[in-house]
Amino acid sequence: MEKHLGARIAAEIAATGPMPFTRFMELALTDPADGYYTGPTVRAGKTGDFITAPELHPLLGSAIARTASETWQRIGMPASFTWIEFGAGAGALLCAAVEQWHRDDAPILSALNVMIVEANPYRREELQARLRALPGGGPQVLPLQPVQAGIVIANEFLDALPFHILVGRPTSKNGFMERCVSVAPNSADLCWVECEPEHSTVDRLREQLAGNPLVEGQLAEVSLAATAWVAALPSLLTSGLVLVLDYGRVSSELRDPATRMAGTALAYQGHRASTNLLAEPGERDITAHVDLTALRGTAAAAGLTHIAATTQAAYLASTGLDDEVARLRTGPEATLESALALRGALAHLMDPRRMGGFAVEAFALGSTEQLARLTDEGNPLPGTAAPIRRLV
Ligand SMILES: C[S@@+](CC[C@H](N)C(=O)[O-])C[C@H]1O[C@@H](n2cnc3c(N)ncnc32)[C@H](O)[C@@H]1O
Repeated sequence: MEKHLGARIAAEIAATGPMPFTRFMELALTDPADGYYTGPTVRAGKTGDFITAPELHPLLGSAIARTASETWQRIGMPASFTWIEFGAGAGALLCAAVEQWHRDDAPILSALNVMIVEANPYRREELQARLRALPGGGPQVLPLQPVQAGIVIANEFLDALPFHILVGRPTSKNGFMERCVSVAPNSADLCWVECEPEHSTVDRLREQLAGNPLVEGQLAEVSLAATAWVAALPSLLTSGLVLVLDYGRVSSELRDPATRMAGTALAYQGHRASTNLLAEPGERDITAHVDLTALRGTAAAAGLTHIAATTQAAYLASTGLDDEVARLRTGPEATLESALALRGALAHLMDPRRMGGFAVEAFALGSTEQLARLTDEGNPLPGTAAPIRRLV
């Protein structure tokens, strides 16, 4: 019988030595046999471990549908426009957007294709089934490949990509050491040990800490996977928009020892957060805040134009939320149940201490003319009207 994941991790450590947390996290979340995100168990939802905006209510999908329609028009209504969604789960966001386009009888539907990056084969199947149940059988799902025009969406995806955990050691060569995972002596328990960062990553780790050195013992997460993701986007999409929605902060806030001595990494199980990241690998979600400074800096270096840095509440408020709320409250399809669900969802989605405070970052790609239309300050793209928060 296959050994369970914890035993396999311990065996790998015994064979090759302590592993960077990135390797532990890759196994804990996406190991094909035992990873948290790869099995049939539904992780999002009231009975799961966490809830996301699209799983809570279709409002965010309706909002993104409006932003995407307008993007498509401003880049010249190309014959093909692709919704490329990373970590799409079972497709709640996409289906809500498609339903919104059907209600609006939106012309973008005739150009729409879909590409999905989703580690979980069960969720991918569910997504396909949900699309097939939509009017007209839903848009076509194509294999991931470079496209000319489209919108890239990552809702609560980057926070789940493997990150390094660094610990401030001002007297060491680099000013920090890396937290690695080992096996405790005389027990089978996993434990932390400090290692020199690997030669292949140390320069990039140092770069991301630049300007915000860690104090003695301070923990900080660095996701080279998240920055590699954004750097690769121009080879996937030529014209259109990139929308990143996640919990994130600028790096000066993330590395502030007064508030972030322990970093931001947490494990989630049954809607409860824990700082014990090593327990029950494969049974808990593991996340950390997205470093918005690193995301924006990498995006700029890759040639993306940063067009909005706002919050989910402000994004929703500036993408026709009022119309959608009115439809759900008083429109012909309104029911008591839908009105109550709406009220509960709004409390989560608009509250700045909850999902309303999530970061929404928008980046544009395209020709000079297309960029001018996507960044028109006199007529901002829906959702991008809120001012760009100053990078401090
Ligand atoms: C927190 S959930 C968010 C799901 C969805 N975007 C939503 O908002 O409801 C993260 C999703 O990303 C997927 N995921 C995590 N790591 C991944 C990876 N390395 N590659 C592809 N998908 C991944 C998970 O399976 C899961 O569906």
